[in-house]
Amino acid sequence: MPTPSTETAERLFFAGKGGVGKTTMAVAAAAFYALHGRRTLLITTDPAAHIGRVLECEVGDEPMPVASVPGLDAARIDPRHETRRYKDMVLQGARERYGPDTVQRMQEELNSPCTEEVAVFRRFLDYLLTDLYQTVVFDTAPTGHTLRLLQLPISYSRQIAAKALGGQETGADEDAEARRMQDALTLLRDPSRTTFAFVVYPEATPIAEAARASAELREIGLETSLVLVNQVLPAEVCVHPLFQRRYEMQQRHLQEVSASFPGAEVRPVLLQERDVIGVRAVLCAAGEAFGGSEAASPVNLRPDAR
Ligand SMILES: Nc1ncnc2c1ncn2[C@@H]1O[C@H](COP(=O)(O)OP(=O)(O)O)[C@@H](O)[C@H]1O
Ligand SMILES: [Mg+2]
Repeated sequence: MPTPSTETAERLFFAGKGGVGKTTMAVAAAAFYALHGRRTLLITTDPAAHIGRVLECEVGDEPMPVASVPGLDAARIDPRHETRRYKDMVLQGARERYGPDTVQRMQEELNSPCTEEVAVFRRFLDYLLTDLYQTVVFDTAPTGHTLRLLQLPISYSRQIAAKALGGQETGADEDAEARRMQDALTLLRDPSRTTFAFVVYPEATPIAEAARASAELREIGLETSLVLVNQVLPAEVCVHPLFQRRYEMQQRHLQEVSASFPGAEVRPVLLQERDVIGVRAVLCAAGEAFGGSEAASPVNLRPDAR
């Protein structure tokens, strides 16, 4: 069994372009941690995620137990739901403190497109900083969206700092927010607590795109520590010259990928015969990358899990 650098990770992020296998790997990692006795939460920040289809259960707006994996809860961050929830919360607070004109003005301001970003970000911070779970796995949206989310703690901290420097008073709420932002940055920047994993195909373009995103994360102090190279062809099936050549190409990329992600561990995941649906199938496909197939043994998984 390999000793994953992820062994005691408190927070894990799976990033990469659409379709490379982020959701599959995030489910595998979350199941791995839960089956090893850590209280684990799996969060998807991808509005287009089909995490419920992979887990074969309903995944809603609040964390709920995943029936097939003891110790695992899952939830999604749905921008529309979070925006509604945030607006309701702000307006309820406003009604208790201000008159109808002010409430009306706030209501209009809350219709701005920024509200969605703020609402999603606040919920993301809640899950990032929760102490209800030992491990939180984030299945993220395709690259650009995720970079934006991870850059926000810095933008917010800078804004609050600039305001304070400019001699403007910061209120108690803002001070609490500033502390949360600092806690988020400290956690995200500590590689012994947070693992950033990129999922790529063994092909030039996805590797280059992920390497660029990883370099952007490094600029804000977030180091990539794991690269999962997904859909690698198994050697024994590559008997036709076409597949032999693709196999050789993939192996070359596998050898070279670590140069694009300095300091990261590279782990291959083999191409499966069919789509990876159900926790057992996910652990079978990607379990090796997270500590070996014993994680999927019937002792750990509920017997009726696929
Ligand atoms: N190693 C693999 N072998 C075969 N199919 C895979 C493998 N990894 C992922 N898939 C399939 O590829 C599709 C995209 O995977 P998914 O995890 O949803 O990607 P993403 O979350 O990055 O968009 C899914 O249908 C999934 O079952
Ligand atoms: Mg996905």
